[in-house]
Amino acid sequence: MALQSARPALGVLGTPTHGSLLLLLLGFRWVLLSRAQTADTGQAVTAARLRRASQDGSWQRAELAVILPRALRSTEKKACPPGKEAHVVDENLVFYEEWELDACVEGALLAEQIDRVNAVPFTYQQLDILKRKLDQFYPQGYPESLVRQLSYFFLEVTPEDIHKWNVTSLETVKSLLQVSKGRKMDAQVAALIARYLVGGGQLDKVTLDMLASFHPTYLCSLSPEQLSFMQQDVVEAARPQDLDACGPLQMAVLYHKAHVAFCNMSASAYFARIKPFLGGASTDDLRALILHNTSMDVATFKKLRKEALLPLTVAEVQKLLGPNLEGLKAEERNSPVRDWILRQRQSDLDSLGLGLRGGIPNGYLVLDLSFREALSGAPHLLGPGSAFTVIPTLLLALVLN
Ligand SMILES: *[C@@H]1O[C@H](CO)[C@@H](O)[C@H](O)[C@H]1NC(C)=O
Ligand SMILES: *[C@@H]1O[C@H](CO)[C@@H](O)[C@H](O)[C@H]1NC(C)=O
Ligand SMILES: *[C@@H]1O[C@H](CO)[C@@H](O)[C@H](O)[C@H]1NC(C)=O
Repeated sequence: MALQSARPALGVLGTPTHGSLLLLLLGFRWVLLSRAQTADTGQAVTAARLRRASQDGSWQRAELAVILPRALRSTEKKACPPGKEAHVVDENLVFYEEWELDACVEGALLAEQIDRVNAVPFTYQQLDILKRKLDQFYPQGYPESLVRQLSYFFLEVTPEDIHKWNVTSLETVKSLLQVSKGRKMDAQVAALIARYLVGGGQLDKVTLDMLASFHPTYLCSLSPEQLSFMQQDVVEAARPQDLDACGPLQMAVLYHKAHVAFCNMSASAYFARIKPFLGGASTDDLRALILHNTSMDVATFKKLRKEALLPLTVAEVQKLLGPNLEGLKAEERNSPVRDWILRQRQSDLDSLGLGLRGGIPNGYLVLDLSFREALSGAPHLLGPGSAFTVIPTLLLALVLN
């Protein structure tokens, strides 16, 4: 982990006086680590486990009692030893044991001297405790004055923490983005951007450029206009899940950017890359895809914009889906497939041989459309299912006869 290398574990290794116990602690950490084989999230997980083990007496208790009798007894004690109360955040705190940090450092002090917290080489476990103290002091979320000064402490916070904050300053956003660069902070960055935008903040070009170095989980927080300013490579880095929360206007912008980014590729590579963005494609874009014989899957088809899909003919949809056409039957009652079916001639639908129902009986096209669309737009008045597709068919049959 990047953070780990950025913070030398001086507090653990550089203290001859507390060395033996701390080395034991460290050793115990490695035992746990190799057992659980959690190389990645090791520190946090292990810290949590150590705490739990010493509190609830689970499987480790016997072993702990042997290896760490002092530590075990210590965690049961709560009061700060005389003379150890912290009045300033400095290097001395590095040599505090974890329970001492918990007992002797006030959340208010941490909030006041957060810059010093960042300057002292605390271990992960110690930071974990300091973070908890700060959270207890601000159960409703950190005030903006503190957020502004967080700097590297930002790396300790979770997206859930951030969602409690008010962030109105672009300078704050920029400084926290700077700190997050090159770390696994995508979710925190997304939350930060969301909070800033919710508060009415505007992102400038510099900030949008800075955002390009993170996984774009924040994309759907941006307005269509902001998206249009995003660098091309942001779109290239977007994963399908990054687009889940985007609305049609955002998707239209993103589709356009993705199309420009990928259009030089071979047809099959292009389709693979453009697929997550097709919710923003227009009818003409879809017709262009048809020319390339792309076999669109029904899952992608379902996510197309209704307005883009409706004008496609039965023959076009047949080509668009290719061998995946059969999947339409299962979707025949769901939007947007249902809306599309309502627009087609039943005889055309029949030619697909899938048993799709609800098309326009022969000879009704012009007369029928607006009535049917009104009905399809208000299915709740008529109840779900096929009832409302049967009614117009009957009415029209009567009219014709
Ligand atoms: C955010 O702002 C609202 C409205 O001003 C305020 O009620 C709330 O306490 C603030 N939250 C934090 C964490 O500062
Ligand atoms: C596509 O290829 C052309 C010519 O090879 C090149 O000029 C253009 O910059 C490329 N476009 C993109 C988006 O890569
Ligand atoms: C698409 O398929 C048709 C018929 O199979 C073929 O004639 C045409 O060349 C194909 N087009 C492309 C771009 O592969």
